[in-house]
Amino acid sequence: MQAVVLVGGEGRRLRPLTDTRPKPMMSLVDRPFVAHQLDHLRRHGVTDIVFSCGYRPDALRDFFGDGSSYGVRLSYVVDPAPLGTAGAIANVGELLSGDDLLVLNGDILTDLDLGALMRGHVESGAVGTIALTPVEDPSAYGLVRLKPSRAVEAFLEKPSIVELIPGEPYLINAGTYLLSPSVVAMIPTGKQCSIEREIFPAVAADGALYGHPSDAYWRDIGTPASYLGAHIDVLAGRVHTETDGIADGRYIAPGATIDVAALLGASVSVGAGATIAAGASLTRSVIGAGTRVGQGTVVHDSIVGEGVVIEQGARVEAGMVIGDGARIAPNSVLTGPGSVPTGAGTEGV
Ligand code: GTP
Repeated sequence: MQAVVLVGGEGRRLRPLTDTRPKPMMSLVDRPFVAHQLDHLRRHGVTDIVFSCGYRPDALRDFFGDGSSYGVRLSYVVDPAPLGTAGAIANVGELLSGDDLLVLNGDILTDLDLGALMRGHVESGAVGTIALTPVEDPSAYGLVRLKPSRAVEAFLEKPSIVELIPGEPYLINAGTYLLSPSVVAMIPTGKQCSIEREIFPAVAADGALYGHPSDAYWRDIGTPASYLGAHIDVLAGRVHTETDGIADGRYIAPGATIDVAALLGASVSVGAGATIAAGASLTRSVIGAGTRVGQGTVVHDSIVGEGVVIEQGARVEAGMVIGDGARIAPNSVLTGPGSVPTGAGTEGV
């Protein structure tokens, strides 16, 4: 089985962190996010993988090369212009094997059983199968309604309460698909096309699109809150990863220096080469590689990029996102949700 991982988006919701790297290269605890996806694919025996790139492709190529250090065989295709989630698949062109194709959004952390997805696809006779995950409130998502056969009956984009049927499972598109060659052939080449909005509704209208609901761990890391949430889940062991060295819900990368008089609470991830000074108090936060957290500072519920300096006595809390290389002035108080741009200073805040 061949997989295409869509890694070409600009990741606008994660700015300023994605100013300096594409979303799939944002670190999740000990490795770039998409490396966890490669680990997941390899665990399920999928090793022939194409990265469909757009925004900042070199960051991926430079890090992963041919994929051999992750036990997979990687190829890269770069969209000439943003082609959307279906156009990007068509653009993979000659590299496609011509068999059923697994497609993954490059921002999904999941324990989905890919073998079960493949078996379901073959047994149903579908030409397309969408992995689905249950949510409590579907109003921010696209709800996928199934028939008892699991054929897709309808897509409801951001449904209002009146459109929901009491007691129905709220299943949303989990960003993992199996596509038969006939579906790939439907996608126009060289132009923008969305798989969710253009291709899936057409296949569903023919009764040939099926859903594969699963209760497996699932999270889309596309917003600051969910990116921080993914760290908290990995640190708590809620999702299977290959990450070693998590202790008491914390991860401290090799080469990070933590003063003995610093207070590291639960759910803290500290990147390589970072330093945390005496009297600093950290909880539920991500500290990027090479960042310096000064004396007597507080960092709570926040994401701090790489090479940031947080001067002594500063407070960063409640959903702040600090761009790479920013300098947070002594004793400043930054309360989120909000962000500090890449390389900015906060003198006088
Ligand atoms: P936002 O700008 O924050 O919405 O993020 P995004 O650009 O990643 O968009 P979205 O979350 O909707 O995309 C879902 C997945 O598809 C992500 O893994 C993207 O990298 C990928 N993706 C989105 N658009 C394209 C595209 O035009 N080309 C390619 N190759 N990948 C894309």
